[in-house]
Amino acid sequence: MSATRIVLLGPPGAGKGTQATALTQHLSIPHISTGDMLRAAVQAGTPVGMQAKAVMDAGELVSDEIVIGIAGERLAEDDAKKGFLLDGFPRTLAQANALEGLLNRLGAGLDRCLALTVDNEAVVERLLRRAEIEGRADDNEGTIRERMRVYDAETAPLLEFYRNRELLTEISGTGSVEEVRQRVREALDS
Ligand code: AP5
Repeated sequence: MSATRIVLLGPPGAGKGTQATALTQHLSIPHISTGDMLRAAVQAGTPVGMQAKAVMDAGELVSDEIVIGIAGERLAEDDAKKGFLLDGFPRTLAQANALEGLLNRLGAGLDRCLALTVDNEAVVERLLRRAEIEGRADDNEGTIRERMRVYDAETAPLLEFYRNRELLTEISGTGSVEEVRQRVREALDS
């Protein structure tokens, strides 16, 4: 596999985090999840966390300004120089444009955008199951459906954005974790 600067897109519960963990171990690149970074900030009670908490609990998007700031800081760290996988960022056209500008300044374009596709009802089922195990505050049915609505309105347009740049590969996220992992690897090898 040659691609090392990767964006992973997909609706809530598509399996981004699950696949990102396996893939970044395989490629030895950092897994950069803005959702994980924001949850850590909420947990730590930082100013960013205090601003983000209610927005995340409601299934809405944290402001572009905050998210572009934390993603930019993380991408500037040394370990991201050899590549990275972005999980859950960008999520709006403003974020995608900011990422493109940032990478252009670093002279390092994206290699690939992988987009996981899944059926809506399968996702609701997965996330309700996770709610029983992990108790994540935004994994209740009302908030899950709002996250899906926000994805369709704000994030789905990024498919076109990356398709126009000939970076997009769509991959079915349905099936076992192992089956999806195999498809992801094949997509990167192709
Ligand atoms: P974020 O943490 O990014 O949440 P999300 O996109 O809703 O994604 P999830 O973590 O729910 O799902 P996933 O696709 O990673 O799937 P996973 O592998 O976990 O963001 C949370 C919030 O933070 C946002 O709503 C927003 O408020 C804020 N935020 C974050 N980034 C932002 C940004 N850039 N801009 C603005 N706001 C931002 O899997 C889900 C479950 O399914 C797990 O239990 C897993 O074990 C299971 N599973 C995975 N694969 C399979 C499979 N193949 N078969 C069966 N089960 C599976």
